[in-house]
Amino acid sequence: MRDVAIVGVSQTKFGELWDKSFRDLVVEAGVEAIHDANMTGEDIDAMYIGNMSGGLFVGQEHIGALIAEHSGLAPIPATRVEAACASGGLALRQAIMAVASGYYDKVMAAGVEKMTDVVDATPAIAAAADREWEAQQGVTFPSLYAMMARRHMHEYGTTREQIAGFAVLGHKNGALNPKAQFQREISVDAVLNSTKVASPLNILDCSPVSDGAAAVVVCPAEDAKKYSDTPIYVKASTQASDTIALHSRKSLTTIESTINASRKAYDIAGIEAKDVDVAEVHDCFSINGLLAIEDLGFFKKGEGGQAIEDGLIERDGQVAVNPSGGLKARGHPLGATGIAQAAEITWQLRGDADKRQVDGAEIGLTQNIGGTGGTVAVHVLSRNK
Ligand code: COA
Repeated sequence: MRDVAIVGVSQTKFGELWDKSFRDLVVEAGVEAIHDANMTGEDIDAMYIGNMSGGLFVGQEHIGALIAEHSGLAPIPATRVEAACASGGLALRQAIMAVASGYYDKVMAAGVEKMTDVVDATPAIAAAADREWEAQQGVTFPSLYAMMARRHMHEYGTTREQIAGFAVLGHKNGALNPKAQFQREISVDAVLNSTKVASPLNILDCSPVSDGAAAVVVCPAEDAKKYSDTPIYVKASTQASDTIALHSRKSLTTIESTINASRKAYDIAGIEAKDVDVAEVHDCFSINGLLAIEDLGFFKKGEGGQAIEDGLIERDGQVAVNPSGGLKARGHPLGATGIAQAAEITWQLRGDADKRQVDGAEIGLTQNIGGTGGTVAVHVLSRNK
């Protein structure tokens, strides 16, 4: 196996992008990532594209060929990767494995979703749940995560304010990110008084419906300095699965696939959870950010709420979590999220994150979840070889 490095990254602005089509978005992200890697399109050997549901959101399938043609990269192989909201994380993993194995040398991993073209995105998103046992009974993702929030409050005494604190942190960081969908701060009171979605979660606990794309270029670590003065090294790329339906789990307050993927990643990277300086975690709902910081081992189970309240996950805290604004404020174009997380960690480790820079960050982590944890991808990245 060869070591792999990230040498180019990009992200389009996330938001309601009425003036850009699905294909415009992914081509914009891809071209920028290739330029960032000081390459041309002719250098790219293959492409993996994370996309959850082009079919339901814009009536488009056969995404690989579409993007290969419109990026001008045909005839290179272009493969769509789907794992609900973890599609981007898995596309990145495919690209890394392709380079590590020696099959290809320079590979692009992109992610894209255009969600705002449908009148109601909720039924399309619900396709990531168990159709027969969850979605068909009327269950939606806000309601699934609401049950997890209720249970966490019941088991650990976590307060509603502590859960809201994760959304407040996202908006605080997002206010410094020019590519974020929401660039304004909010308060705990604003979260608690915002429109109810699925009790106890309100609209300001939810990630939004978003359009956007992101892209990453990877190559063998030994070649990385040819393309970038500051390559970022992939120390681990892992993936774990769990039951797709929530009712089949042993616990509603632990995402086992996060534990499995992250422990394997720490083992491969030769680190412990406490070594992570900066992390982008999958806060599709505020409660999921809280679960992430516990399941990743940053804090003990049941202590995530207190950690949020005590400021331990702020940019200058024990571990800086979601400096980009996370899914809550940066936005959550489903298939693009896992790639955008890797782009943010790359900027942080390069020292290129401007006003939201985490000082001295050397080791970063991304956690990208599909559904309620049926799929989890974890990546550990480092500025040191
Ligand atoms: N956070 C902050 N503001 C939000 C928001 C959010 N999540 N969602 C919508 N808004 C704002 C909009 O910008 C708009 O503001 P404006 O009037 O100033 O333009 C206003 O609220 C109404 O927006 P609208 O699009 O009508 O909201 P909605 O009621 O249709 O959608 C949700 C709100 C919460 C239902 C939707 O954002 C949602 O489904 N989020 C979850 C997405 C999801 O499940 N992702 C996958 C996770 S696994």
